[in-house]
Amino acid sequence: MGKPVDLTRWCEGTVRELKPWTERLYSIRVDAPVDNFTAGQFTKLGLVIDGELTGRPYSYVNAPDERPLEFYFITVPDGPLTQRLVTLSPGDSIYVMRKAAGFLTLAEVPEAKHLWMLSTGTAIGPFLSILKTPDPWKRFERIVLVHAVRTAQELSFQDTIQALATRHPQQFVYIPFVSREDTDFAIRDRIPGALASGTLEARAGIEITPEQSQVMICGNPAMVKDTTEALRARGLERNRRRTPGHITVENYW
Ligand SMILES: Cc1cc2nc3c(=O)[nH]c(=O)nc-3n(C[C@H](O)[C@H](O)[C@H](O)COP(=O)(O)OP(=O)(O)OC[C@H]3O[C@@H](n4cnc5c(N)ncnc54)[C@H](O)[C@@H]3O)c2cc1C
Ligand SMILES: NC(=O)c1ccc[n+]([C@@H]2O[C@H](COP(=O)([O-])OP(=O)(O)OC[C@H]3O[C@@H](n4cnc5c(N)ncnc54)[C@H](OP(=O)(O)O)[C@@H]3O)[C@@H](O)[C@H]2O)c1
Repeated sequence: MGKPVDLTRWCEGTVRELKPWTERLYSIRVDAPVDNFTAGQFTKLGLVIDGELTGRPYSYVNAPDERPLEFYFITVPDGPLTQRLVTLSPGDSIYVMRKAAGFLTLAEVPEAKHLWMLSTGTAIGPFLSILKTPDPWKRFERIVLVHAVRTAQELSFQDTIQALATRHPQQFVYIPFVSREDTDFAIRDRIPGALASGTLEARAGIEITPEQSQVMICGNPAMVKDTTEALRARGLERNRRRTPGHITVENYW
């Protein structure tokens, strides 16, 4: 017998749906009485495995006022939690951390003309949560959402993205990157490569400069590091509480 679950920190939720996007990518939709959160934040999902609560962080994909809660994840081979998440069915119970955390939020981002949101893989989630709120559309003239994946079938959430594009035709630019196959619509490169070659900005129709840009970066830590370095070489700096800059990041592992 393991320790009992601390119900002051965790609440018990119910799985509403497990939606497969591909063989490895899923949305899990959950009803749970969590505390309020800010778009861009993450919470933890947990399951009792061998008598112990195994919890991992996941970003909210839903906007703060949207229900059910939604999380977007990839199965990791031999991953203790994700291998169990994919066995869940509607009605099953799942623990959710009540209080959200994280600083990949617009409150951390200083004013600017343009907002760039750069993601790999499952890290498009927190950006969708932010884009489903009114705030970014009031604050930025242009918003560029970049989603970098290996194969075209991993470009999930096309309906959500299309709805944003329809609602904000002048303000919103969506730029898919597919690195491991040719398509007639995506950039075939990695984000730092497309920054260096100018392909990304050419496609967006605007440039990244310290004067007019704020950049949020989320996902694969190697991408976060390489992209931050590429931007710093062009005069952009990390945002710190005391010294505002231009780059706000979150690593997924
Ligand atoms: C702040 C934060 C937010 C996160 N949000 C999400 C999210 O919204 N969706 C999500 O799928 N994961 C997210 N993660 C990762 C998640 O917490 C788990 O690590 C992941 O789901 C695997 O859990 P696991 O127990 O199966 O394996 P683990 O033992 O936790 O992971 C094993 C390894 O898998 C790789 N890995 C983990 N997560 C990912 C990922 N998302 N994409 C690619 N490789 C990965 C890493 O190499 C990691 O060391 C987040 C992590 C952090 C720190
Ligand atoms: N997606 C799959 O089909 C697949 C299959 C088997 C195993 N996995 C495992 O699942 C995990 C997640 O895979 P994922 O495809 O979601 O995420 P990922 O490996 O982070 O790839 C997502 C995108 O990020 C790019 N990228 C990787 N490193 C980068 C860097 N340093 N700078 C800039 N861009 C970078 C990748 O380009 P590149 O293509 O050039 O790397 C790809 O376009 C990984 O641990 C992987 O080992 C995934």
